Amino acid sequence: MTAVISTKTLLRKFSAPNSSMKTPATTVIYAEGDIKRLKRERFKMPHSFGQVKFNFKGKPTEVKCLDMSGGHTAVGDIQLPWMVSQRALVALKDYDIRQDDIWVTTYPKAGTHWTSEIVQLILSEGHVDRIDRTRQPHPVEFDIYRPGGVTPPKDMPIEKLVPMYERCKNWPSPRVFMTHLAEHLMPKQIYEGKGKVIFVMRNPKDLAVSFFHFLHMGERPDPRFENWDNFFEIYCTDDIPYSSWFTYVLSFWKKHRYDENFLFLKFEEMKKDPRNAVLQVAHFLGKDLDDETIDRVVRYSSVDSMKERFKTSEKHSDKPSEDHHEAEKSKLGAPGIIRKGIVGDWKQHFTEEQSKKFDELFREKMEGSGLDIDFEI
Ligand code: A3P
Repeated sequence: MTAVISTKTLLRKFSAPNSSMKTPATTVIYAEGDIKRLKRERFKMPHSFGQVKFNFKGKPTEVKCLDMSGGHTAVGDIQLPWMVSQRALVALKDYDIRQDDIWVTTYPKAGTHWTSEIVQLILSEGHVDRIDRTRQPHPVEFDIYRPGGVTPPKDMPIEKLVPMYERCKNWPSPRVFMTHLAEHLMPKQIYEGKGKVIFVMRNPKDLAVSFFHFLHMGERPDPRFENWDNFFEIYCTDDIPYSSWFTYVLSFWKKHRYDENFLFLKFEEMKKDPRNAVLQVAHFLGKDLDDETIDRVVRYSSVDSMKERFKTSEKHSDKPSEDHHEAEKSKLGAPGIIRKGIVGDWKQHFTEEQSKKFDELFREKMEGSGLDIDFEI
């Protein structure tokens, strides 16, 4: 069902105390002016997802905002978290890529932070304290920065925020980016051979579990994902934020698996042989590391070591920007991201029936792709 309702009505609906949002699935379409207002007001809303429509050239043409009860996904549409702004998507498509840029590109929960940490450690020769944490905090398409720091005060209008992609423009080389951009939204220059992309894949059953837990980390999780069974059903479709794992992963795999500036890694293989993973990444980046450096990179990128460091991450502060910048230097910006970091956790969550259903879907979607994925090691 599609309905055009005013922003005012929607905000009232969202901010109603104990709003269960159990209305039938409705797509809410806004006029341009409303979108601006909605963005100004967005911090007052619970977890919401925008839906962006693309034309055939991959240029975003129209933004729709879905209400909390879900919505539909048509061909060419993709749901994204509210932090992904339209201006970021437009700017990133034509972004200037440096030859030595490193883009860690993943479907969420595939091991983005782990891989980024390996890259950062390689670049700093295994010395954790040399990593500048101000240059690593969030996916490049997120638009949640205030001047000089992260996480703006809740009422700051979008116009005053400094988008992540703008901040990255001033970083010294080599720049390390994290992104969950879909294949058709990545910067064009990447596909002209500029920069290096490390694309990490994780088995979609463990990833589902990780995603499910992640979506519950916020204060008010999206009601569509309140329970595992509901989440699982949506996860099997393109209605899940970022589109389905199959859509996302296969689009990169099919088009770029042989591109010279792409390295495809698998979470399960990284777990099985972390040293080899470090060597693969170092080789791809053209870094010749001695044994001691490799040992340090392996040690500091282990799940226990990272958990310890990410745990100490400070809470976002509302200090003035200069102080904030200093405070930021020491923090990792992603507390709660490191959970178990294991292979096979899906067995604790999938029912037998869900596992079977997913296996069938997997067979159907992956047929002929030439991509093997391990569900246990
Ligand atoms: P789990 O939730 O299954 O534990 P992302 O960085 O893409 O958001 O992925 C997060 C997932 O990667 C989490 O999975 C997290 O625990 C896991 N992870 C992070 N660092 C890791 C590491 N050093 N080794 C193994 N897994 C790690």
